[in-house]
Amino acid sequence: MENSELFKLAKEAMDKAYVPYSHFHVGAAILTVGGKYYSGCNVENAAYPEGTCAEAGAIAAMVLGGDAQIQDIYVMGKGDLLVTPCGGCRQKIREFATEQTRIHICSPTQIQKTLTMDELLPLSFGPENLAK
Ligand code: THU
Repeated sequence: MENSELFKLAKEAMDKAYVPYSHFHVGAAILTVGGKYYSGCNVENAAYPEGTCAEAGAIAAMVLGGDAQIQDIYVMGKGDLLVTPCGGCRQKIREFATEQTRIHICSPTQIQKTLTMDELLPLSFGPENLAK
């Protein structure tokens, strides 16, 4: 079942993306385990590699808000293909994922696919790997 607040936040963020180079708008919205919401959009830069993804913006907002556990994340974009998180964003989401985390890939009108963290990034390296 779709979370209408997450859907609305992802869409608002997508519409605000700063994408003068790719013109590819992406929005991301997070619901934390504690029930709080955060969102972010992609922000491009004339020095292309300095651009940041929507997921990174939403994660930065979450950390600033004092949260560190993602329950659900919606990633929204347009086009014929699924807007699946890039490799770097998979690792960024992984840092704050739990067994229950679900990643929902969305078009502007619906959830197209829902994935577990392990489906999105199998055999991942996370904080537990650093535990002594
Ligand atoms: N983009 C994201 O925001 N998230 C992803 O996971 C994939 C790519 C953005 C980066 C860039 O601004 C645009 O989409 C085209 O790559």
